[in-house]
Amino acid sequence: MSVYFVRTATARDMAAVSRLLAETWQATYGAIHDPERVSAITGSSYSEEALRARLALPDSEFLVADDGTRLGGMAFARAASDDRTLLVLHQLYVRPDVQGQGIGTDLFSEIAGSFPQATRIRVEVEEANARALDFYIALGFARVGASDGGLGLAAVVLERPLGAFDA
Ligand SMILES: CC(C)(COP(=O)(O)OP(=O)(O)OC[C@H]1O[C@@H](n2cnc3c(N)ncnc32)[C@H](O)[C@@H]1OP(=O)(O)O)[C@@H](O)C(=O)NCCC(=O)NCCS
Repeated sequence: MSVYFVRTATARDMAAVSRLLAETWQATYGAIHDPERVSAITGSSYSEEALRARLALPDSEFLVADDGTRLGGMAFARAASDDRTLLVLHQLYVRPDVQGQGIGTDLFSEIAGSFPQATRIRVEVEEANARALDFYIALGFARVGASDGGLGLAAVVLERPLGAFDA
């Protein structure tokens, strides 16, 4: 089993992150959405160019899990524009063949510890994504609301507090 380490992403990673997201989105959402729609979304929102633009966003952190040969996962979070105490986890994805090895937890811990001003963290998960819901509940998240998920499927809004020593 490879050993993955979490590090800050650079522009040179973005082609590999784009491929990782296309593969992971297809494995996660291909069964619950039209696979062509999933490809269209990843092709535009997660193109190398679109991902590079995120690297420059203020109050944000873009991390990858790397084993020295290939990327196993990625995470991107950004402080809410109107409330810097609220951290929004926009993406956390682990490549399907290395899920369940602790990479998601490592990425989450690093993100959660990267924003000292944040007192809580929020994520939106599709109601149908039972595995991700289990993952966040195990990390101490609780449901605080609902949304349309942006993809037209019901999504759950989850939050948990952040403290200096409990990431
Ligand atoms: C959800 C995801 C990020 C979790 O990352 P991961 O590296 O697989 O998770 P970890 O190995 O760190 O597991 C942490 C905990 O999650 C839960 N978990 C992991 N795999 C699980 C599974 N197959 N079924 C249910 N719960 C599971 C467990 O509580 C686990 O703790 P444990 O190992 O002590 O039992 C990852 O599976 C993923 O990318 N899934 C597809 C994309 C996705 O849904 N992303 C989230 C979108 S918001």
